[in-house]
Amino acid sequence: MDKVISYLKDNYNDYIDELKEYISIPSISTSSENKNDMKVCADFVKAKLEAAGMNKTEIFETEGHPIVYGEWLEAPGKPTVLIYGHYDVQPVDPIDLWDSPPFEAEIKDNKIYARGANDNKGQNFVHIKSVEAFFNTHGKLPLNVKFIIEGEEEIGSPNLEKFLATQKELLKCDAVLISDTSMYGPGIPTVSYGLRGLAFMEVFVTGPNRDLHSGSFGGSVANPINELARMISRLIDENGVIQIPGFYDDVVEMTELELDNIKKLAFDDDAYAKELDVKELHGEKGFNTLQRLWARPTLDCNGIVGGYTGEGAKTVLPSKASAKISMRLVPNQTPEKIGELFEAYFRQIAPEHIKVEVKALHGGKPVVVPLESKAMSAAAVAVSKAFGRETVFTREGGSIPIVVEFVEQLEAPAILMGLGLDTDNIHSPNEHFSLESFHQGMIASAYFIEEFAK
Ligand code: BES
Ligand code: MN
Repeated sequence: MDKVISYLKDNYNDYIDELKEYISIPSISTSSENKNDMKVCADFVKAKLEAAGMNKTEIFETEGHPIVYGEWLEAPGKPTVLIYGHYDVQPVDPIDLWDSPPFEAEIKDNKIYARGANDNKGQNFVHIKSVEAFFNTHGKLPLNVKFIIEGEEEIGSPNLEKFLATQKELLKCDAVLISDTSMYGPGIPTVSYGLRGLAFMEVFVTGPNRDLHSGSFGGSVANPINELARMISRLIDENGVIQIPGFYDDVVEMTELELDNIKKLAFDDDAYAKELDVKELHGEKGFNTLQRLWARPTLDCNGIVGGYTGEGAKTVLPSKASAKISMRLVPNQTPEKIGELFEAYFRQIAPEHIKVEVKALHGGKPVVVPLESKAMSAAAVAVSKAFGRETVFTREGGSIPIVVEFVEQLEAPAILMGLGLDTDNIHSPNEHFSLESFHQGMIASAYFIEEFAK
């Protein structure tokens, strides 16, 4: 093991250069303009898996973006770990808020700044390099490894889900290892055991059949923006309670053990508020911040469009308005049922004088995995060794829709060995990843392989 660790240390600068190259490919999955970059990026990942010692690699084309697969299965009788990650990244806008170009990685204060630096290129590259270090020092791995690096996580993994259903044998494993979440704090080794799910809706409100002069018509006919705003405000009350009938029916409360764990984590509300520059925190009454983030569902308007938003004034009474609204879900809520309840309520509160259309966009189920498994223990030991202190266990507020499919369809525990920080600006300008995490993450990955092989 010492050889692997010192090999990782010795080659650290080369890994940063390779990560920079990975990051320079603008693999934005939502953007049709970047379709070819997705292919380039998939090829890049495949080549890296080969270089890391995988003796079979393959690119699986899908209706969307390609899935990259690699395996090395020459440790008979040893467990198999499936390492999952995604090579697609979020769009970069608003581009003017970036301090350096999003696809030209820049290193500042021991952090690497670029789109995808954390989410998820930096985090999945860690595992490719730890595997490579085993091959370059021992010529083999102490267990079997499969990699699945997809290009559609940021759009809800529609094609990986289909792929999984038909490729259970190929992906069969004893545990799924994923680094695509956050550590509890800088340098705090963390293993997460839960993710929230997501129901994403788009609503359209139509008033008159065309845009009108707000003087000639204002006061005689409903303004769809006013009406939409009123409807949105009826979705959630001032105590953070979502008003959709039946919304909370399937919510599973945290266990005593989990609540104890939260107490021990001693979350600092004041520091959190200060970092976000808000006077006080706000959320569902009766729950603490970590409960709200990990175990309570939420409803947020993510965007609202309508009328005139250009320079200066334009006295228009618009014909249409629309909004995107997402709900984070917790066990045992499902995006299907929540989507239906949302639509029923939204239609119910719509006044007669407007037309309403409701569309469900992609979603994902929430997941909580048992804390007792060999893989979970191996991960806890691994990060603790790498970061030099005791591991904490967290749930996450974010979503990785494919995880629940791994758990249910492959019947394997999913281990969320996150290396990011919530302050890394993922999905936002100036995304970055701590090089300390990058470095210790490779070491943690190597320890996981060693521990899980036992
Ligand atoms: N890596 C994130 C998820 C994440 C971030 C989990 C931080 C925990 C902490 C992932 O790439 C992501 O952004 N997922 C989306 C999923 C959605 C687009 C279906 C999300 O959570 O919004
Ligand atoms: Mn993301």
